[in-house]
Amino acid sequence: MENLHPDLARILVPEETIQAHVQVLAHQISLDYADKGPIYLIGVLRGAFIFLADLARHLTVPHVVDFMSVSSYGKSTESGVVRIVLDLRESIERKNVIIVEDIVDSGKTLSYLYTMLEGRNPASLRTCTLVQKPKEVQLDVPIDYLGFKIPDVWVVGYGLDYADRHRTLPYIAELKASVYT
Ligand code: PRP
Repeated sequence: MENLHPDLARILVPEETIQAHVQVLAHQISLDYADKGPIYLIGVLRGAFIFLADLARHLTVPHVVDFMSVSSYGKSTESGVVRIVLDLRESIERKNVIIVEDIVDSGKTLSYLYTMLEGRNPASLRTCTLVQKPKEVQLDVPIDYLGFKIPDVWVVGYGLDYADRHRTLPYIAELKASVYT
């Protein structure tokens, strides 16, 4: 086994497990959208770019890939997300849209995007996240496609970062508490 980076406590989800989940999600989405015309996949930057790239390549139905980016004042604030930094290239009116996230933590990002995109009159709007953290507060947005849940620890890898580091690890790892405290 390769040596772990000193920032990392342990591998939480190995690469093979992630890839198996991605294939299951792609299979389910492909079944659900068979004969429905192209899916408009919206990856939420930056974190979702790796998951979206893998997911899209396993889909067997036509799809278009686009991206959005939002900024926030930080996860501890009440309002959470505040503005769109990068918007879509096309209108999503009358399109079948899936928002693709790497992780749902507080749910503020997904909730903000869902509400905002709903207002653009898509034919349908669903959500897909690879990872969800357990929260006491009930999400106000449905998660239609979920890879797996993880414990409420700081995770990096497979798109997830700490201070822009460790994003491109092929697995998801737990960050040592000493790194962020
Ligand atoms: C992360 C992640 C999700 C969001 C989830 O993005 O990629 O978009 O946080 O958190 P929430 O459920 O509490 O809103 P981040 O804002 O860290 O930006 P990044 O993707 O560019 O790393």
